[in-house]
Amino acid sequence: MSITLIDLHPSPADLQQLVQEGLRRSPRQLPAWLLYNDEGSRLFAEICRQPEYTLTNREITLLELHADAIAAATGPGLVVEFGIGNARKVDPLLTALGSNIFAALDISYSALEEALSGLAARHPNTAMVGICCDHSSMKELPAHPALEGHRRIGFFPGSSLGNFTPEEALAFLRNARQLLAGGPLLLGLDQPRAPALMEAAYDDAAGVSAAFARNLLQRLNRDLQGDADPKQFRYRARWQAQQQRIEMALVSTQDQIVHLAGEAWFFRNGDAWITEYSVKYSPKAAAELATQAGWRIERRWEDPHQQMALHLLLPAD
Ligand code: AVJ
Repeated sequence: MSITLIDLHPSPADLQQLVQEGLRRSPRQLPAWLLYNDEGSRLFAEICRQPEYTLTNREITLLELHADAIAAATGPGLVVEFGIGNARKVDPLLTALGSNIFAALDISYSALEEALSGLAARHPNTAMVGICCDHSSMKELPAHPALEGHRRIGFFPGSSLGNFTPEEALAFLRNARQLLAGGPLLLGLDQPRAPALMEAAYDDAAGVSAAFARNLLQRLNRDLQGDADPKQFRYRARWQAQQQRIEMALVSTQDQIVHLAGEAWFFRNGDAWITEYSVKYSPKAAAELATQAGWRIERRWEDPHQQMALHLLLPAD
């Protein structure tokens, strides 16, 4: 059993600059990966267990059902997962592919450690390589002997692409094409459904989605000497039909000044701090984006509820 961890996490100085840039924007918004500190990763795993948030379980069912067909279509190679999240997802793939090596990229070191040790116990003959980094901007894998000489198979499940704006999604898919060096990409995307269902999925009755958003303020307070009071913001998740996305935000419930990252930030009552987007992709939108990024969709597997779809992308030329 072997686990290697490579730490390329952005430094605190980079963090301060990122936060200042994001809070100067209008509306205010930071990169979504900042949601995933240790507590954020834990809360996200809890979101995946809420009855309203059906995405994860439906995708796992889909992967388990079609793992052999997917493995036959991708061919063997080194699976590179962007964001380890729920390690259960890659499980059936590793089994079907009989892989002897697996690489996962994730922003949370503790999530990587935990996920890889769980996976290693179930796949004792697979070498595990964890790379702690912001996977949204990676153009190549770090130089490491274990990663050399394999054909690469990208795996980006969970509709995580939905966190990106259209421009960021395009950049990610282009970067991934370069990083995978000719190999395929298996991409899991959530499709648009009835707005009430989607809004409930992002504002569950147990309040875990709201706690996940508020945790952003708590982690920034801690990491960048801030005094943002999570109680003085209300959580809002709403469907924006034109952009085909759920917008999640913390809305200031009063005029207030927040000190954070070495500056004072004024919020008016009703001002939104967008915590993240979750873009939904129809089959047509997915195909258009893939084409623009230099991929073509070779195959597609959809769950019986027509919510989640797995797309097998191959380089277009
Ligand atoms: C990890 C981006 C796929 O958009 O469904 C879920 C994030 N945030 N509930 C999603 C999320 C709140 C999730 N992704």
